[in-house]
Amino acid sequence: MNWPADFIWGVSTSSYQIEGAVALGGRKPSIWDTRCRTAGKVANGDTGDIACDHYHRYPEDIRLMKELGVEAYRFSVAWPRVLPLGKGAANEAGLAFYDRLIDGLLEAGIEPWLCLYHWDLPQALEDLGGWTNRDIAGWFADYTTLVAHRYGDRVKRFATINEPSVFTLFGYAMDWGAPGIIDRSAHLRAIHHVNLAHGAAVDALRAGVTNAFVGAIHNRQRIVPQSDSEADKAATRTLDAFWNNAFPEPQLLGSYPAAIAEAVAPYVEAGDMARICRPCDFFGLNHYGPIFAKADPASLWGFAWGSAPDDAPKSDIGWPIYPDMFRDELIDLSRRYRLPIYVTENGCGGRADKGNELDDQHRIKYLGAYTAAMHQAMAAGADVRGYFVWSLLDNFEWGSGYGNRFGLVFVDFTTGKRTPKASARWYADLIAGR
Ligand code: FCB
Repeated sequence: MNWPADFIWGVSTSSYQIEGAVALGGRKPSIWDTRCRTAGKVANGDTGDIACDHYHRYPEDIRLMKELGVEAYRFSVAWPRVLPLGKGAANEAGLAFYDRLIDGLLEAGIEPWLCLYHWDLPQALEDLGGWTNRDIAGWFADYTTLVAHRYGDRVKRFATINEPSVFTLFGYAMDWGAPGIIDRSAHLRAIHHVNLAHGAAVDALRAGVTNAFVGAIHNRQRIVPQSDSEADKAATRTLDAFWNNAFPEPQLLGSYPAAIAEAVAPYVEAGDMARICRPCDFFGLNHYGPIFAKADPASLWGFAWGSAPDDAPKSDIGWPIYPDMFRDELIDLSRRYRLPIYVTENGCGGRADKGNELDDQHRIKYLGAYTAAMHQAMAAGADVRGYFVWSLLDNFEWGSGYGNRFGLVFVDFTTGKRTPKASARWYADLIAGR
Protein backbone atom coordinates (compact mmCIF):
# COMPACT_ATOMS: atom_id res chain seq x y z
CA MET A 1 0.00 0.00 0.00
CA ASN A 2 1.22 3.47 -0.83
CA TRP A 3 0.53 6.18 1.69
CA PRO A 4 0.85 9.90 0.98
CA ALA A 5 4.30 11.18 1.96
CA ASP A 6 2.83 13.68 4.41
CA PHE A 7 0.45 11.19 6.06
CA ILE A 8 0.93 11.33 9.85
CA TRP A 9 1.39 8.11 11.84
CA GLY A 10 1.02 8.41 15.57
CA VAL A 11 -0.06 6.86 18.85
CA SER A 12 -2.60 8.06 21.42
CA THR A 13 -2.90 7.93 25.20
CA SER A 14 -4.77 9.88 27.87
CA SER A 15 -3.74 11.38 31.18
CA TYR A 16 -5.76 9.40 33.71
CA GLN A 17 -5.12 6.13 31.90
CA ILE A 18 -1.31 6.33 32.04
CA GLU A 19 0.06 9.02 34.35
CA GLY A 20 -0.52 7.69 37.86
CA ALA A 21 0.91 10.09 40.47
CA VAL A 22 -2.61 11.16 41.32
CA ALA A 23 -1.60 12.85 44.55
CA LEU A 24 1.87 14.06 43.53
CA GLY A 25 3.03 17.49 42.41
CA GLY A 26 -0.07 19.24 43.66
CA ARG A 27 -2.63 17.28 41.60
CA LYS A 28 -6.06 17.01 43.20
CA PRO A 29 -8.70 14.32 42.57
CA SER A 30 -10.69 13.99 39.38
CA ILE A 31 -14.09 12.36 39.01
CA TRP A 32 -12.32 9.17 37.96
CA ASP A 33 -10.34 9.03 41.22
CA THR A 34 -13.69 9.23 42.95
CA ARG A 35 -15.27 6.58 40.77
CA CYS A 36 -12.36 4.20 41.33
CA ARG A 37 -13.00 4.53 45.06
CA THR A 38 -16.67 3.71 44.70
CA ALA A 39 -17.27 0.00 45.26
CA GLY A 40 -18.29 -2.03 42.23
CA LYS A 41 -17.61 0.58 39.55
CA VAL A 42 -14.25 -0.61 38.23
CA ALA A 43 -13.32 -4.26 37.57
CA ASN A 44 -11.12 -5.79 40.20
CA GLY A 45 -11.18 -2.57 42.26
CA ASP A 46 -8.46 -1.18 39.98
CA THR A 47 -7.57 2.53 40.16
CA GLY A 48 -5.45 4.99 38.19
CA ASP A 49 -3.29 5.71 41.26
CA ILE A 50 -0.14 4.35 39.64
CA ALA A 51 -1.31 3.23 36.18
CA CYS A 52 1.75 3.18 33.87
CA ASP A 53 3.59 5.62 36.13
CA HIS A 54 4.09 7.71 33.02
CA TYR A 55 4.45 10.77 35.27
CA HIS A 56 7.90 9.44 36.17
CA ARG A 57 8.63 7.19 33.20
CA TYR A 58 7.75 9.59 30.38
CA PRO A 59 11.38 9.77 29.09
CA GLU A 60 11.27 6.00 28.53
CA ASP A 61 7.90 6.31 26.83
CA ILE A 62 9.27 8.95 24.49
CA ARG A 63 12.16 6.60 23.66
CA LEU A 64 9.65 3.83 22.90
CA MET A 65 7.83 6.16 20.52
CA LYS A 66 11.05 7.12 18.83
CA GLU A 67 11.82 3.44 18.28
CA LEU A 68 8.39 3.02 16.71
CA GLY A 69 9.18 5.91 14.41
CA VAL A 70 5.89 7.71 15.08
CA GLU A 71 5.67 11.29 13.92
CA ALA A 72 2.98 12.40 16.35
CA TYR A 73 1.83 11.70 19.88
CA ARG A 74 -1.64 12.52 21.09
CA PHE A 75 -1.87 12.89 24.85
CA SER A 76 -4.21 14.75 27.16
CA VAL A 77 -3.51 17.28 29.85
CA ALA A 78 -5.05 16.42 33.21
CA TRP A 79 -7.12 19.45 34.16
CA PRO A 80 -6.76 18.63 37.92
CA ARG A 81 -2.97 18.54 37.56
CA VAL A 82 -2.65 22.05 36.17
CA LEU A 83 -5.68 23.60 37.91
CA PRO A 84 -6.19 21.33 40.91
CA LEU A 85 -9.55 22.83 41.83
CA GLY A 86 -10.59 23.30 38.23
CA LYS A 87 -10.40 27.06 38.41
CA GLY A 88 -8.49 29.68 40.32
CA ALA A 89 -4.84 29.11 41.15
CA ALA A 90 -2.71 27.25 38.61
CA ASN A 91 -0.28 24.59 39.81
CA GLU A 92 3.25 25.27 38.64
CA ALA A 93 4.51 21.72 39.31
CA GLY A 94 1.72 20.30 37.16
CA LEU A 95 2.33 22.76 34.36
CA ALA A 96 6.05 21.97 34.48
CA PHE A 97 5.37 18.26 33.96
CA TYR A 98 3.82 18.91 30.56
CA ASP A 99 6.67 21.30 29.72
CA ARG A 100 9.10 18.44 30.22
CA LEU A 101 6.93 16.05 28.22
CA ILE A 102 6.48 18.48 25.32
CA ASP A 103 10.15 19.43 25.22
CA GLY A 104 11.15 15.76 25.27
CA LEU A 105 8.81 14.99 22.39
CA LEU A 106 10.09 17.87 20.30
CA GLU A 107 13.68 16.82 20.95
CA ALA A 108 12.77 13.33 19.72
CA GLY A 109 11.20 14.77 16.58
CA ILE A 110 7.67 13.80 17.62
CA GLU A 111 4.89 16.33 17.20
CA PRO A 112 2.72 16.83 20.30
CA TRP A 113 -1.06 16.69 19.74
CA LEU A 114 -2.62 18.04 22.89
CA CYS A 115 -6.13 17.06 23.92
CA LEU A 116 -7.63 19.30 26.59
CA TYR A 117 -10.13 16.91 28.06
CA HIS A 118 -10.09 13.13 28.25
CA TRP A 119 -12.64 12.61 31.01
CA ASP A 120 -10.72 13.53 34.18
CA LEU A 121 -12.82 16.44 35.39
CA PRO A 122 -11.57 18.04 38.63
CA GLN A 123 -13.73 16.69 41.46
CA ALA A 124 -14.00 20.24 42.86
CA LEU A 125 -15.92 21.24 39.72
CA GLU A 126 -18.10 18.14 39.92
CA ASP A 127 -19.01 19.32 43.42
CA LEU A 128 -20.38 22.47 41.74
CA GLY A 129 -22.45 20.42 39.30
CA GLY A 130 -19.70 19.60 36.79
CA TRP A 131 -20.94 19.38 33.20
CA THR A 132 -24.53 19.96 34.31
CA ASN A 133 -23.61 23.52 35.40
CA ARG A 134 -23.69 26.00 32.51
CA ASP A 135 -20.77 27.91 34.09
CA ILE A 136 -18.49 25.08 32.99
CA ALA A 137 -18.17 26.63 29.53
CA GLY A 138 -16.38 29.57 31.17
CA TRP A 139 -14.30 27.34 33.46
CA PHE A 140 -13.21 25.29 30.46
CA ALA A 141 -12.36 28.42 28.46
CA ASP A 142 -10.16 29.70 31.32
CA TYR A 143 -8.41 26.33 31.60
CA THR A 144 -7.89 26.35 27.83
CA THR A 145 -6.40 29.85 27.94
CA LEU A 146 -3.94 28.72 30.61
CA VAL A 147 -2.86 25.74 28.48
CA ALA A 148 -2.74 27.83 25.30
CA HIS A 149 -0.51 30.48 26.85
CA ARG A 150 1.79 27.98 28.52
CA TYR A 151 2.37 25.57 25.63
CA GLY A 152 1.20 27.42 22.50
CA ASP A 153 4.76 28.41 21.60
CA ARG A 154 5.58 24.71 21.11
CA VAL A 155 2.24 22.98 20.53
CA LYS A 156 0.09 23.81 17.51
CA ARG A 157 -2.23 20.81 17.26
CA PHE A 158 -5.08 20.90 19.72
CA ALA A 159 -8.17 18.81 20.30
CA THR A 160 -10.82 20.20 22.61
CA ILE A 161 -12.73 17.24 24.02
CA ASN A 162 -12.35 13.49 23.58
CA GLU A 163 -15.50 11.52 22.73
CA PRO A 164 -18.14 13.81 24.22
CA SER A 165 -20.90 11.38 23.35
CA VAL A 166 -19.24 8.54 25.21
CA PHE A 167 -18.57 10.27 28.49
CA THR A 168 -21.93 12.06 28.58
CA LEU A 169 -23.90 8.91 27.79
CA PHE A 170 -21.86 6.64 30.08
CA GLY A 171 -21.63 9.28 32.82
CA TYR A 172 -25.20 10.62 32.86
CA ALA A 173 -27.42 7.91 31.37
CA MET A 174 -25.89 4.50 32.02
CA ASP A 175 -23.54 4.59 35.00
CA TRP A 176 -20.76 3.08 32.91
CA GLY A 177 -18.48 6.04 33.66
CA ALA A 178 -17.95 9.03 35.96
CA PRO A 179 -19.83 10.71 37.50
CA GLY A 180 -22.31 7.84 37.25
CA ILE A 181 -25.59 9.77 37.38
CA ILE A 182 -28.68 8.45 35.60
CA ASP A 183 -30.95 11.38 34.86
CA ARG A 184 -32.44 12.78 31.65
CA SER A 185 -32.10 16.44 32.52
CA ALA A 186 -28.51 16.00 33.74
CA HIS A 187 -27.64 14.13 30.55
CA LEU A 188 -29.18 16.78 28.28
CA ARG A 189 -27.59 19.66 30.17
CA ALA A 190 -24.21 17.90 30.06
CA ILE A 191 -24.52 17.47 26.29
CA HIS A 192 -25.31 21.13 25.72
CA HIS A 193 -22.67 22.42 28.12
CA VAL A 194 -19.98 20.21 26.61
CA ASN A 195 -20.87 21.70 23.23
CA LEU A 196 -20.67 25.23 24.65
CA ALA A 197 -17.33 24.42 26.28
CA HIS A 198 -16.01 23.11 22.97
CA GLY A 199 -16.96 26.34 21.17
CA ALA A 200 -15.46 28.49 23.92
CA ALA A 201 -12.23 26.47 23.83
CA VAL A 202 -11.90 26.83 20.06
CA ASP A 203 -12.08 30.61 20.49
CA ALA A 204 -9.60 30.55 23.40
CA LEU A 205 -7.13 28.50 21.35
CA ARG A 206 -7.40 30.84 18.36
CA ALA A 207 -6.88 33.83 20.66
CA GLY A 208 -4.00 32.28 22.59
CA VAL A 209 -1.99 30.34 19.99
CA THR A 210 -0.58 31.62 16.70
CA ASN A 211 -1.37 29.18 13.88
CA ALA A 212 -3.38 26.84 16.10
CA PHE A 213 -4.75 23.77 14.30
CA VAL A 214 -7.92 22.94 16.18
CA GLY A 215 -10.55 20.21 16.19
CA ALA A 216 -12.62 17.94 18.39
CA ILE A 217 -12.46 14.16 18.72
CA HIS A 218 -15.61 12.15 18.13
CA ASN A 219 -16.27 8.47 18.50
CA ARG A 220 -18.44 7.49 15.53
CA GLN A 221 -19.48 4.04 14.64
CA ARG A 222 -22.30 2.29 12.88
CA ILE A 223 -25.20 1.40 15.18
CA VAL A 224 -26.88 -1.76 13.96
CA PRO A 225 -30.23 -3.01 15.28
CA GLN A 226 -29.82 -6.40 16.90
CA SER A 227 -32.98 -7.65 15.15
CA ASP A 228 -35.45 -6.50 12.50
CA SER A 229 -38.07 -5.60 15.09
CA GLU A 230 -39.49 -2.06 15.01
CA ALA A 231 -38.56 -1.64 18.66
CA ASP A 232 -34.89 -2.44 18.04
CA LYS A 233 -34.83 -0.17 15.01
CA ALA A 234 -36.32 2.74 16.99
CA ALA A 235 -33.80 2.16 19.80
CA THR A 236 -31.03 2.23 17.20
CA ARG A 237 -32.19 5.60 15.86
CA THR A 238 -32.19 7.13 19.35
CA LEU A 239 -28.76 5.75 20.20
CA ASP A 240 -27.44 6.95 16.85
CA ALA A 241 -28.57 10.51 17.66
CA PHE A 242 -26.90 10.51 21.07
CA TRP A 243 -23.78 8.60 20.06
CA ASN A 244 -22.94 9.81 16.59
CA ASN A 245 -24.65 13.13 16.04
CA ALA A 246 -25.27 15.05 19.28
CA PHE A 247 -21.84 16.75 19.06
CA PRO A 248 -20.54 16.90 15.46
CA GLU A 249 -23.85 18.26 14.13
CA PRO A 250 -24.08 21.31 16.42
CA GLN A 251 -20.32 21.87 16.45
CA LEU A 252 -19.87 21.71 12.69
CA LEU A 253 -23.30 22.40 11.19
CA GLY A 254 -24.99 24.46 13.92
CA SER A 255 -27.99 22.36 14.94
CA TYR A 256 -28.95 19.39 17.07
CA PRO A 257 -30.09 16.20 15.33
CA ALA A 258 -33.89 16.07 15.00
CA ALA A 259 -34.22 13.05 17.28
CA ILE A 260 -32.98 14.98 20.34
CA ALA A 261 -33.49 18.64 19.39
CA GLU A 262 -36.76 19.00 21.29
CA ALA A 263 -35.34 17.41 24.42
CA VAL A 264 -32.27 19.68 24.46
CA ALA A 265 -34.22 22.84 23.58
CA PRO A 266 -35.09 23.89 27.17
CA TYR A 267 -31.37 24.30 27.91
CA VAL A 268 -30.47 26.25 24.76
CA GLU A 269 -30.27 30.03 25.16
CA ALA A 270 -30.30 32.68 22.45
CA GLY A 271 -26.97 32.77 20.62
CA ASP A 272 -25.82 29.35 21.86
CA MET A 273 -25.72 27.63 18.49
CA ALA A 274 -23.37 30.31 17.15
CA ARG A 275 -21.20 29.91 20.28
CA ILE A 276 -20.97 26.16 19.67
CA CYS A 277 -20.44 26.17 15.91
CA ARG A 278 -16.94 27.64 15.58
CA PRO A 279 -14.69 26.95 12.61
CA CYS A 280 -12.57 23.81 13.06
CA ASP A 281 -9.52 22.68 11.11
CA PHE A 282 -9.94 18.93 11.36
CA PHE A 283 -12.26 16.13 12.43
CA GLY A 284 -10.73 13.72 14.94
CA LEU A 285 -12.32 10.29 14.56
CA ASN A 286 -12.10 7.52 17.12
CA HIS A 287 -13.40 4.24 15.78
CA TYR A 288 -13.26 0.61 16.88
CA GLY A 289 -16.24 -1.30 15.51
CA PRO A 290 -20.03 -1.18 15.27
CA ILE A 291 -22.48 -1.24 18.17
CA PHE A 292 -25.38 -3.68 18.06
CA ALA A 293 -28.35 -2.06 19.78
CA LYS A 294 -31.63 -3.27 21.16
CA ALA A 295 -34.73 -1.80 22.76
CA ASP A 296 -34.77 -1.66 26.54
CA PRO A 297 -37.85 0.06 27.93
CA ALA A 298 -36.36 0.05 31.44
CA SER A 299 -33.38 2.18 30.42
CA LEU A 300 -33.25 5.98 30.54
CA TRP A 301 -33.75 6.48 26.78
CA GLY A 302 -35.14 3.09 25.74
CA PHE A 303 -32.00 1.55 24.28
CA ALA A 304 -29.29 -0.82 25.43
CA TRP A 305 -26.24 -2.54 24.02
CA GLY A 306 -27.34 -5.74 22.29
CA SER A 307 -25.15 -8.54 21.07
CA ALA A 308 -23.35 -9.02 17.78
CA PRO A 309 -24.36 -12.00 15.65
CA ASP A 310 -22.79 -15.26 16.90
CA ASP A 311 -20.64 -15.56 13.80
CA ALA A 312 -19.38 -11.95 13.96
CA PRO A 313 -15.60 -11.64 14.20
CA LYS A 314 -14.71 -10.28 17.63
CA SER A 315 -11.59 -9.19 19.46
CA ASP A 316 -10.46 -11.01 22.60
CA ILE A 317 -12.44 -8.50 24.67
CA GLY A 318 -15.56 -9.13 22.61
CA TRP A 319 -15.67 -6.00 20.44
CA PRO A 320 -17.01 -6.74 16.91
CA ILE A 321 -14.54 -6.34 14.03
CA TYR A 322 -15.95 -4.89 10.79
CA PRO A 323 -13.29 -2.95 8.84
CA ASP A 324 -15.72 -2.21 5.97
CA MET A 325 -17.84 -0.17 8.35
CA PHE A 326 -14.75 1.89 9.20
CA ARG A 327 -14.15 2.50 5.49
CA ASP A 328 -17.78 3.61 5.02
CA GLU A 329 -17.67 5.83 8.12
CA LEU A 330 -14.60 7.65 6.77
CA ILE A 331 -16.21 8.19 3.38
CA ASP A 332 -19.48 9.46 4.89
CA LEU A 333 -17.74 11.78 7.37
CA SER A 334 -15.56 13.28 4.71
CA ARG A 335 -18.61 14.07 2.57
CA ARG A 336 -20.74 15.42 5.39
CA TYR A 337 -18.33 17.70 7.23
CA ARG A 338 -15.74 18.42 4.51
CA LEU A 339 -12.86 18.59 6.98
CA PRO A 340 -9.56 16.73 6.90
CA ILE A 341 -9.94 13.64 9.06
CA TYR A 342 -7.36 12.37 11.49
CA VAL A 343 -8.12 8.97 12.97
CA THR A 344 -7.20 9.84 16.54
CA GLU A 345 -7.92 6.36 17.95
CA ASN A 346 -8.19 2.87 16.51
CA GLY A 347 -6.93 -0.30 18.08
CA CYS A 348 -7.61 -3.77 19.34
CA GLY A 349 -8.22 -4.92 22.89
CA GLY A 350 -6.68 -8.09 24.25
CA ARG A 351 -6.38 -9.86 27.56
CA ALA A 352 -3.22 -11.11 29.22
CA ASP A 353 -5.03 -14.26 30.35
CA LYS A 354 -5.32 -15.36 26.70
CA GLY A 355 -1.54 -15.81 26.65
CA ASN A 356 -1.12 -14.05 23.28
CA GLU A 357 -0.31 -10.53 24.35
CA LEU A 358 3.39 -10.37 23.47
CA ASP A 359 3.07 -12.25 20.21
CA ASP A 360 -0.16 -10.36 19.49
CA GLN A 361 -0.97 -11.59 16.00
CA HIS A 362 -4.65 -10.86 16.68
CA ARG A 363 -3.81 -7.16 17.03
CA ILE A 364 -1.62 -7.15 13.92
CA LYS A 365 -4.49 -8.72 12.00
CA TYR A 366 -6.95 -6.10 13.28
CA LEU A 367 -4.65 -3.15 12.60
CA GLY A 368 -3.78 -4.54 9.17
CA ALA A 369 -7.45 -4.84 8.22
CA TYR A 370 -8.40 -1.41 9.58
CA THR A 371 -5.49 0.44 7.95
CA ALA A 372 -6.33 -1.33 4.67
CA ALA A 373 -9.95 -0.16 5.03
CA MET A 374 -8.70 3.38 5.64
CA HIS A 375 -6.59 3.11 2.48
CA GLN A 376 -9.68 2.06 0.53
CA ALA A 377 -11.62 5.02 1.92
CA MET A 378 -8.84 7.37 0.83
CA ALA A 379 -8.84 5.81 -2.64
CA ALA A 380 -12.59 6.50 -2.73
CA GLY A 381 -11.95 10.17 -1.96
CA ALA A 382 -12.08 10.41 1.84
CA ASP A 383 -9.70 13.12 3.02
CA VAL A 384 -7.82 11.23 5.73
CA ARG A 385 -4.51 12.81 6.78
CA GLY A 386 -3.31 10.78 9.73
CA TYR A 387 -3.81 7.76 11.96
CA PHE A 388 -3.07 7.24 15.68
CA VAL A 389 -3.10 3.78 17.23
CA TRP A 390 -4.84 3.42 20.57
CA SER A 391 -2.64 2.91 22.43
CA LEU A 392 1.10 3.24 22.94
CA LEU A 393 0.86 1.35 26.25
CA ASP A 394 -1.43 -1.06 27.99
CA ASN A 395 -3.21 1.18 30.47
CA PHE A 396 -6.12 1.79 32.82
CA GLU A 397 -9.09 0.90 30.62
CA TRP A 398 -11.80 2.73 32.60
CA GLY A 399 -14.46 0.38 33.99
CA SER A 400 -12.49 -2.66 32.77
CA GLY A 401 -9.48 -1.66 34.85
CA TYR A 402 -6.20 -3.27 33.80
CA GLY A 403 -7.85 -6.41 32.41
CA ASN A 404 -8.31 -5.09 28.87
CA ARG A 405 -5.07 -4.26 27.10
CA PHE A 406 -4.81 -2.04 24.01
CA GLY A 407 -1.06 -1.30 23.96
CA LEU A 408 1.52 -1.81 21.25
CA VAL A 409 3.77 -2.05 24.29
CA PHE A 410 3.05 -4.50 27.10
CA VAL A 411 3.10 -3.08 30.62
CA ASP A 412 3.71 -5.23 33.67
CA PHE A 413 1.62 -3.32 36.19
CA THR A 414 3.44 -4.70 39.21
CA THR A 415 6.87 -3.47 38.08
CA GLY A 416 6.03 -0.89 35.40
CA LYS A 417 8.28 -2.73 32.96
CA ARG A 418 7.52 -2.05 29.29
CA THR A 419 7.98 -4.69 26.55
CA PRO A 420 7.16 -3.92 22.92
CA LYS A 421 4.76 -6.49 21.45
CA ALA A 422 4.93 -7.98 17.97
CA SER A 423 2.42 -5.31 16.90
CA ALA A 424 4.94 -2.60 17.83
CA ARG A 425 7.40 -4.05 15.33
CA TRP A 426 4.61 -4.38 12.76
CA TYR A 427 3.64 -0.72 13.21
CA ALA A 428 7.28 0.43 13.04
CA ASP A 429 7.65 -1.42 9.74
CA LEU A 430 4.44 0.09 8.36
CA ILE A 431 5.68 3.58 9.25
CA ALA A 432 9.10 2.94 7.82
CA GLY A 433 7.32 1.97 4.60
CA ARG A 434 8.65 -1.52 4.41
C1 FCB B 1 -12.08 5.07 23.77
C2 FCB B 1 -11.45 6.01 24.78
C3 FCB B 1 -10.08 5.62 25.20
C4 FCB B 1 -9.94 4.12 25.35
C5 FCB B 1 -10.45 3.39 24.14
C6 FCB B 1 -10.30 1.89 24.19
O1 FCB B 1 -13.47 5.15 23.86
O2 FCB B 1 -11.36 7.32 24.24
O3 FCB B 1 -9.78 6.31 26.36
O4 FCB B 1 -10.55 3.71 26.50
O5 FCB B 1 -11.79 3.72 23.93
